[in-house]
Amino acid sequence: MFISFEGIDFCGKSTQIKLLEEHFIAEGKKVLVIREPGGTEISEKIRDVLLDKKNSKMFMETEFLLFSASRAQLVREKIRPSLEEGFYVISDRFHDSSTAYQGYGRGIPVDVILNIHKLAVGSTVPDITFFIDIPVEVAHERKLAKQSEHLDRIEKSDMEFYTRVRNGYLKIAEEESRFRIINGKDSIEEIHKKILEEINKFEQR
Ligand code: ADP
Ligand code: TYD
Repeated sequence: MFISFEGIDFCGKSTQIKLLEEHFIAEGKKVLVIREPGGTEISEKIRDVLLDKKNSKMFMETEFLLFSASRAQLVREKIRPSLEEGFYVISDRFHDSSTAYQGYGRGIPVDVILNIHKLAVGSTVPDITFFIDIPVEVAHERKLAKQSEHLDRIEKSDMEFYTRVRNGYLKIAEEESRFRIINGKDSIEEIHKKILEEINKFEQR
C-alpha cells in the first residue's frame, strides 16, 4: 500500500508519519518512509539545491522540474521495488505537493504540471493521500514557535502564498477520490486514530 501525506508546512505531517510508521512496525509490517524531495542519493542532492537559501534566484519552472526530477528517481529506485516486495510505503509529500505549491501556489498552469506528473510518476500514485488541513493562521503560529533562522527558503514564503496552496489542495481533493481531508486542528491522537480508521476501511474494501 502506498500512502502519501500532504498539507501546508507545519500541518503536522511528520508527527503523523512517525506515529503511523510505529503502528505498522508494531503490527510486524514492512514499512518504508520517504520524504519529498529526497529519499535517494540523487534525490537528496536535488533537495539540497532546492532548499539552499543561496538559490534565491531560482525560477519557478526550474523549481518544479527539480522536484519532478527528484520524484522520478525516487519512484523508480525505491517506491516501485518496495511496493512489489509488499512494503507499506509512506511518503512525506508526493506529486500533489507540486500541483499545490508550484501550480496553485506559484502559478504554473496545472494542466502542464499534471502532464509532467505522467512522465515522472506514471501510474505510481498513492492509494490514499491524507491532506492534513490547517488554516494558514495556525500554520503561522506554529511557524513562529520555531526559530526563524531555522526556516528554509521555501518556508519563508508569505501568507497569501500558503492560502493559495491550501485552496489548491482543497481543489485537488474535490477531483481525487484517493484524498482524505483530515482536520489538522484536532489533537495528535485524534488525527492518528482517524488515519488508522481510513487505512482499515481501504484495506477492507
Ligand atoms: P510538518 O511535517 O507538516 O511540517 P510537524 O509534524 O513537524 O509538521 O508539526 C509542526 C509543529 O506542529 C510541531 O511543532 C508539532 O509538534 C506541532 N503539531 C503537530 N501536530 C499537531 C496537532 N495536531 N496539534 C497541535 N500541534 C501539532
Ligand atoms: P520540507 O523540509 O520537507 O518541509 P515539510 O516538513 O513542511 O514537508 O521542505 C519541503 C518544502 O518544499 C515545503 O515547503 C514544500 C515544498 N515543496 C514544493 O514546493 N513542491 C514539491 O513538489 C514538494 C515535494 C515540496
